[in-house]
Amino acid sequence: MPLLVQPTLPDPRGPISMSVVELLAERAPLRYLAKVETSLADADPAGIDLQLALYVCYELHYRGFAGVDSAWEWNAGLIYLRGQLEELFLNDIQTAVGPIEADVSALEELEKLCVEPVNGNGPSYYLRDEGTWEQMREYFAHRSLYHLKEGDPHAWAIPRLTGQAKASFVAVEYDEFGAGKGARVHQQLFADLMEAAQLDTTYLGYLNDVPAESLAVVNLMSLFGLHRRHRGATVGHFAATEVTSPPGSRRMVQALERFGAPEECRAFYDEHVEADAVHEQVVRTDVVGDLVAREPELNADVVFGIRAFDLVENRLADHLMASWRSGRPSLRRALD
Ligand SMILES: [Fe+2]
Ligand SMILES: [Fe+2]
Repeated sequence: MPLLVQPTLPDPRGPISMSVVELLAERAPLRYLAKVETSLADADPAGIDLQLALYVCYELHYRGFAGVDSAWEWNAGLIYLRGQLEELFLNDIQTAVGPIEADVSALEELEKLCVEPVNGNGPSYYLRDEGTWEQMREYFAHRSLYHLKEGDPHAWAIPRLTGQAKASFVAVEYDEFGAGKGARVHQQLFADLMEAAQLDTTYLGYLNDVPAESLAVVNLMSLFGLHRRHRGATVGHFAATEVTSPPGSRRMVQALERFGAPEECRAFYDEHVEADAVHEQVVRTDVVGDLVAREPELNADVVFGIRAFDLVENRLADHLMASWRSGRPSLRRALD
């Protein structure tokens, strides 16, 4: 069972992440306010430098980093910079998602996500049909950023919900957190998978190796989760995660069977085929349905959360498929 260890700070990937990483080596100033500034003039909101800087800022709210003064978490000067990074990131997502039509309902939007091609061209289809075990291991490394903190980014929404939506949201999260059993926490099941696949089980162990697309997947959840005004988007994102999980997990189980992968690898995805088939129903009716009935003005935000989820997932899928189809590794360094 891994201990609750703090990750180490990653290597900077450009001027923005350099500003943040270098700053965190110092003690946080407590008695004066100094805005943390860096040049954002030519920042690429979807690029690795900005995404890594944002990831590091957000991580201060999860586990923090070894040797980093925990007072940075609420340092107003750093929050000022984080706000600017968030604005650039969110603008990019909003532009790519486009306007939300006035007559679209959140439940219909979820329905659309469930219509899947029989023969799709995303990573889970590829891994099921023709990918290699090495590509599967790369996939685990990309996903480890999220799965080793699975359930945590959405949990920020709990105090911002009420009634049935709150009760059902927590019921699903309860399963994500192992339903009272430490060994069954999904984060732990994924650590077991990583170990069985001979990968690094350390929390954020692959932070230096993944591309911007993998960071954006997690940054989006942190952004939504940490802002009460985005609680509708958090719920949409959460629902989209649960609804798309069973079919994708089923393909992963098939892929792992094809590879004769260790039982611990299959166990994580088996759990998501079974548990998420139930979660899927709960999130539709009792979480999304109840929330939009209670607060109809959140409908468009829920739809935005669903579409934003789909967007960042597709960007990661495109990166993986472009790498694999051209015979290149999808990580910055080859796995051991
Ligand atoms: Fe899970
Ligand atoms: Fe789930």
